[in-house]
Amino acid sequence: MTLYILISDPISDDGINTLLETEDVIVDKKIDLSKKELLNCIGKYDALLVRSQTEVDRELIAAGKNLKAIGRAGVGVDNVDLNAATEHGVVVVNAPMGNTISTAEHTMAMLMAASRKIPQSYESLTKNEWNRKAYVGVELYQKTLGIIGFGRIGNEVSKRAKGFQMNVIAYDPFLTEEKAEKLGITCGSIDDVLKQADFITIHTPLLKETKHLINQTAFEKMKKGVYILNCARGGLVDEEALYHAITTGKVAGAALDVFENEPVINHELLNLPEVIATPHLGASTFEAQENVAVDVSFDVLEMLRGKPAKNPVNMPSVSYEVIQKLEPYYTLAEKIGSFLSQIAKGAIREIAIEYSGELKEINTDLLNRITVKGMLKKHLGHQINDVNAFHLAEQKEIVINEKKTTLNKGFTNLMTITVKTNEEMRSISGTRIEGLGIEFVNVDDYRVDVVPTSHMIFIRHYDKPGMIGKVGSFLGECDINIATMQVGRKEPGGEAIMLLSVDKHLKHDFIDDLKHVANIIDVTPIEL
Ligand code: NAD
Ligand code: MLT
Repeated sequence: MTLYILISDPISDDGINTLLETEDVIVDKKIDLSKKELLNCIGKYDALLVRSQTEVDRELIAAGKNLKAIGRAGVGVDNVDLNAATEHGVVVVNAPMGNTISTAEHTMAMLMAASRKIPQSYESLTKNEWNRKAYVGVELYQKTLGIIGFGRIGNEVSKRAKGFQMNVIAYDPFLTEEKAEKLGITCGSIDDVLKQADFITIHTPLLKETKHLINQTAFEKMKKGVYILNCARGGLVDEEALYHAITTGKVAGAALDVFENEPVINHELLNLPEVIATPHLGASTFEAQENVAVDVSFDVLEMLRGKPAKNPVNMPSVSYEVIQKLEPYYTLAEKIGSFLSQIAKGAIREIAIEYSGELKEINTDLLNRITVKGMLKKHLGHQINDVNAFHLAEQKEIVINEKKTTLNKGFTNLMTITVKTNEEMRSISGTRIEGLGIEFVNVDDYRVDVVPTSHMIFIRHYDKPGMIGKVGSFLGECDINIATMQVGRKEPGGEAIMLLSVDKHLKHDFIDDLKHVANIIDVTPIEL
């Protein structure tokens, strides 16, 4: 099947070679499409690749009837409506690593340019002025750099600033004193950073909580003569408050790579001589653009081939090692879920997933999603996938519970799924046996050893002599070949179950007839 990929922002040609060289992939590069043009063409595509220009909103995602993946060649996904993508089952992947160094270097370039007034003095020189007095700068040596947001970029900026023998104080909710000590920096509160720093650089994402993090109140806490840098996102710094802080002399200079509304035209901050700026160039190096394009192309292709992505944004991010451990259980999870949905009567209220053995030790979020998908796809069909499984379950008010337990019942790994409906509770345990594959080992507390296959029949009956023969002959008369048959009972003569693997689907008329065979309680054909 041919896969269609649309690239709607300028993305490095070298970086998308994997896509261009893949036989069954057609890549269309259509830059600068209007919103209307995008809406008109998106329906054809399996994946969309963007940088930060294309506004991937709810309307566009909804119009992307075939859309399975959105790749953001960069870090920030603020131009993608993640909730809408999740609701429509579209995976969003980004490329968080590829432009870290470029952005950190850009931040350092801005720090030096601002402290030595390089853009201003160059501009003056181009006007044939030789004004050495107006452009006296300040040294970075032994000054304090305050870093707000100590993630990938914040960290790299800190290393470079230390090379200039600056003192670094950083605030990040995840930065610990131990880590700071190891890095030779100080870990402080946001107020410590605001109060102590000579230069403040911000490297957080733009979130509800971080919007205007640097506002009037924050400026009031800062030292007089402080410099402000923003190479992260417009909107982190309140631009009006910054204008006021500069014109009142609190802030000596500002270096901005990003703005609240981009592209910027006639911005009042750009009229101030204390402000230097670049048009969102943090990640604009050949290296970074190639890196992010390579990363995002790889992930989008993996997603379209049904494999887990390395950098999913609206899915749990798990390491390659964990994915390798989980992969063999994907089928087990989906088949248990699907089997249960076919035998459980009533509306599903709760799905409880219990792991023991080696599964106890790893992040099983992906297996939970696959289980829920397996269970709900009977009613939701292809609209449910690993991305929107929890969302759709939540919409249907289904509670999902996960439990890790040491009770492995003698298996090296065990996955038990229990479904509670408004009528009953059913459960299946399954395991994976190295070299043999997956097996159901318990169905509703009956001990079995059953390999799930495409066509199965689940029979509840009373444990009476001759039941196996009766069912065998009945199916023989229906021209249905039995591949395997397993019975399970709790006590002689009581209720029992029979699980058969058959070569073809059992027709409805036959099911009704089989139900009328003496001592049979119920018959459910299962398609997996
Ligand atoms: P990251 O996720 O590695 O780091 C962000 C850090 O911010 C995290 O450690 C997080 O804990 C911290 N944080 C979140 N809320 C905070 C708060 N209220 N106070 C303090 N810290 C907070 O991300 P990154 O790769 O370092 O990117 C940082 C920013 O740079 C993002 O906004 C990204 O979009 C932007 N970026 C811009 C460019 C550019 O071209 N200018 C290029 C790349 C990245
Ligand atoms: C990012 O978040 O990665 C940047 O803003 C870079 C970009 O889109 O060019």
